[in-house]
Amino acid sequence: MSDKNNHVSIDNSGLDPQTNFSLNPTFAAIVDSRMARRNFLKGSVGAAVVAFIGGSLVGCSSSDDGELAALIPPPVAGTAPLLGFAAVATGRTDGIVVPAGYTARAFLPWGTPLTGSYPAFLADASNSGGEQEQQVGMHHDGMHFFPIDARSSGESSTEGLLVFNHEYIDNNLVHTNGITTVPRIADEARKEIAAHGVSVAHIQQQADGSWALVNNSPFNRRITGATPMELAGPVRGSAKVVTKYSPDGSRTRGTLNNCGNGFTPWGTYLTCEENWAGYFVNTDAAQPREHSRYGVSSNNGRYLWETATPAADQYQRFNASTVGADASADYRNEPNTFGWIVEIDPFNPDSVPQKRTALGRFGHEGIIFGKLEEGQPLVLYSGDDSRFEYIYKFVSSAPYFKTTAGGHLLNDGILYVARFNDDGSGDWLPLDINNTDFAAKVAAAGVTFEDQADVLLNTRLAADALGATKMDRAEWGAVHPDTGEVYFTLTNNSRRTEEQIDAANPRARNVTGHIIRWNERQNQSATAFDWDIFLLAGDVGTVTPNTDLTLTTDNHLASPDGLWFDKNGLLWIQTDMSGSQQGEGPYGNNQMLVADPVTRQIKRFLVGPTDCEVTGISATPDMKTLFVNIQHPGDRSKPNNFTSNWPDGGNSRPRSATVIVTKDDGGVIGS
Ligand code: FEO
Ligand code: CA
Ligand code: CA
Ligand code: CA
Repeated sequence: MSDKNNHVSIDNSGLDPQTNFSLNPTFAAIVDSRMARRNFLKGSVGAAVVAFIGGSLVGCSSSDDGELAALIPPPVAGTAPLLGFAAVATGRTDGIVVPAGYTARAFLPWGTPLTGSYPAFLADASNSGGEQEQQVGMHHDGMHFFPIDARSSGESSTEGLLVFNHEYIDNNLVHTNGITTVPRIADEARKEIAAHGVSVAHIQQQADGSWALVNNSPFNRRITGATPMELAGPVRGSAKVVTKYSPDGSRTRGTLNNCGNGFTPWGTYLTCEENWAGYFVNTDAAQPREHSRYGVSSNNGRYLWETATPAADQYQRFNASTVGADASADYRNEPNTFGWIVEIDPFNPDSVPQKRTALGRFGHEGIIFGKLEEGQPLVLYSGDDSRFEYIYKFVSSAPYFKTTAGGHLLNDGILYVARFNDDGSGDWLPLDINNTDFAAKVAAAGVTFEDQADVLLNTRLAADALGATKMDRAEWGAVHPDTGEVYFTLTNNSRRTEEQIDAANPRARNVTGHIIRWNERQNQSATAFDWDIFLLAGDVGTVTPNTDLTLTTDNHLASPDGLWFDKNGLLWIQTDMSGSQQGEGPYGNNQMLVADPVTRQIKRFLVGPTDCEVTGISATPDMKTLFVNIQHPGDRSKPNNFTSNWPDGGNSRPRSATVIVTKDDGGVIGS
């Protein structure tokens, strides 16, 4: 627990533990050649500088607001050719590198005063828990820019709400001397919980083109690991979410390990709970399947919050062991209130975040909507980022209509899991207790579920029973704005063996990852699809079979993670290589590339600072301001011995931050 300097050593390396030991088949096969099947829109084809290091650091009770207008802006017309920039080289500078003609500025780093009394960030990280609750959280991740007029025209490119996730905390950096004692000091735990969650920042472009936080805006808000939330959908009221805090199973506190994100057509934000299981401990002799299948620890919570002293309910809830007379007297069910997609209405600061349980419970990386079609069901995709887990799709029961759409559409529908067949076809398998095929397969697997809430609480187990395809760690998805084609990153899986390869996960010891894509048959809610592999990541010379794509020094990459289509149909790819892969591999620091999905032309656009991850991306409607998040710069730091000093420079403590990228001639990003 403690190293020789008496610093508590908390292992952050196992963030994506393998917990799927089910016996689903893996198909020994290679990627076979298939007929070209695509009918893309024609895409346009088209001296790195170390840009700026540091810089301008200026910095209803439910969200079912059904009457809000949709806001999908039209494509930018009459712009310069895309991918016209010169690719940047790989590198290991402790700064942001973007192409010549572009500028990058850090914005809203961890600790930026955001609400309340706007407490200043203290460079020695000595801010209290109460101060952190009023400051931007740590470890920025998924993000979305909502134009300030999102609820009407959605056209503002100069003012909006920037909403972004805080995935986790670095225990070596969050306090002056790192985490030093067990049992934990209550205010340290309070600060760490407050550094998680989501920030809502009202931002405005200034006359000189820079962006600044609107101080004292009523929209500025922190949602943390302690914010009261409601459970919505089929699991609300289930006996398995009854806790001392919520004896009727309708409420919980906080959202944790918020990784990727989504945003709805009705102008709300979706945050995704990924590696939440490790925050809890259950020391019971036998854990329930709702804990064991997800990797809840039997030793201690990830940051030992359950030990916080003086003890308080808000910390004891991380102990999910049976200690009370029944579920309403302890927190045995607290982990069951995590693992969900959470909807937040950034335009209503008093709104209570809603955990949308119909979308399933797993290690949600992100969430992405299928192409919107008036009068048709809503379709959403989400990957479970853990080794050998699955990709899911949700189809709403009610049709989507722009004028009436709202969060209620996410409370009722069918959740499916993907099976990628070796012949390039695929099937969506329903996790629906009323479906006869599901019932038969579950019975054959010897698994029983009480009701649909039980299925959803045990989404992974239900997917096991259906024979879904075990993937190489599904991260973000992206949907082409015109064609509706779906792309997903599969970041890596070093544990896949030769015997376990299948057509969709074609490499053993897959340390560099790949990107898969598919088209639904007939329409977005179809239960059959056709897929192929868009990109095999790797070193220079890596070939993606059955394509003319061979990676070069302009685009070699590993561990693709963040993925996003801009409105012009360019696919942005962000990488999350481990510290050793960045330090020792041929790829340099983590980076962001941009691809034309039609031609497969790919160019590196940005390289991040030392020991960071590049994750989270959004833009203004005019595509002239790009927001990118830099997470955990200086990831391998020890207390007061930093491996990065980004963004403040000098000997400063590294801080996760957003980066604002603009083109010096005021043009469209990527042109
Ligand atoms: Fe939080 Fe799977 O990355
Ligand atoms: Ca990720
Ligand atoms: Ca990752
Ligand atoms: Ca991360």
